[in-house]
Amino acid sequence: MKLHIAVLPGDGIGPEVTSQAVKVLKAIAMEFGHIFTFEYGLIGGAAIKKSGTALPEETLSICKKADTILFGAIGEPKYNFDPDAKVRPEQGLLKLRKELDLFANIRPVIAYEDLLNHSPLKNKCIKDTDIIIYRELSAGIYYGDKTLSEDGQSASDVCQYNRFEIERIAHLAFKAAQSRQRKLTLVDKANVLASSRLWRKVIMEMAPQYPNVTLDFYYIDNAAMQLILNPRQFDVILTENMFGDILSEEASVIVGSIGLLASASLGPKYAMFEPIHGAYSKATDKGIANPIASILSATMLLDHFGLLDEASLIRKAIKKSLKLHITTPDLNTKYDNISTSKVGDFIEDFINHPEETNLNFKNIHLGQSTII
Ligand code: IPM
Ligand code: MG
Repeated sequence: MKLHIAVLPGDGIGPEVTSQAVKVLKAIAMEFGHIFTFEYGLIGGAAIKKSGTALPEETLSICKKADTILFGAIGEPKYNFDPDAKVRPEQGLLKLRKELDLFANIRPVIAYEDLLNHSPLKNKCIKDTDIIIYRELSAGIYYGDKTLSEDGQSASDVCQYNRFEIERIAHLAFKAAQSRQRKLTLVDKANVLASSRLWRKVIMEMAPQYPNVTLDFYYIDNAAMQLILNPRQFDVILTENMFGDILSEEASVIVGSIGLLASASLGPKYAMFEPIHGAYSKATDKGIANPIASILSATMLLDHFGLLDEASLIRKAIKKSLKLHITTPDLNTKYDNISTSKVGDFIEDFINHPEETNLNFKNIHLGQSTII
């Protein structure tokens, strides 16, 4: 298959982790006889520095011309304490999602057996967690009207949804539930918010179209508790933009590190693949950023194009890396010298020689492999 992939590394650790994902995609192309080409674009703080805007026209057009997009991370600390900044890095990502109509952000949360001890939560509670969060990504409070009064003493953000915006992601979530454990949980705040009541009404009206899906409803405050109290009760979670942002970050505690969670952002025409983590600027260029979320995002990209064997080989390589403690310091209690690029090298190596890597198992453990 020929795929032209727009790559937007972004800020902070974005470039480091994205380059590992590109490395892995190149290994897959080589191994399976595909032609993957990559075209890079600026976004976020990096783009502001160069052009004064967080999403330059050129970047948007690179994305629109490409078959798909791999995104890194966005954000710069200097904006964190500058509430008056006229442009902000995050605007680049938000505008891109809107321009490409990426309305469904799909975030899988899977507890790996080999990482159960890395979660601060009890093993018995998180074991076998397998959730998929459908986060609405193109509307809600992120995109509603924003105001700041002239005297700067009052501000507002409107959370607005219409039926169409709810229905289109809900259909995807219902279908996902049908192909999984057939359970869908809508997370909202319908006891307080009018927009949540519309979500509830629309979902209840849609439910008869999916009679084999068990539907339940949680308020966001309760869901936040239930998610870490008993995550196995969830199969597919459907929720609006901001609740999905918060819940998915909370869910990373189950998995052991936010550096493990990937996502697919889908729309009618375009698809973008992005880790759920931010720019983690403190870690930039230190070689400590976990590249797995980015590599898993690339894996979701392959799934999206039906390259299932390719995707499953990468997942196998990731599982092996976790088993062998070939992980960055956020997950490693055994070795302290495994860098971002070494994790990428291991996965690349596994793709190139799956059998051999199995055989070298012992050497890798002892740190004798050439890749460590
Ligand atoms: C995410 C991020 C973004 C979001 C930020 C960087 C704008 O937190 O993708 O989860 O809030 O959507
Ligand atoms: Mg987030």
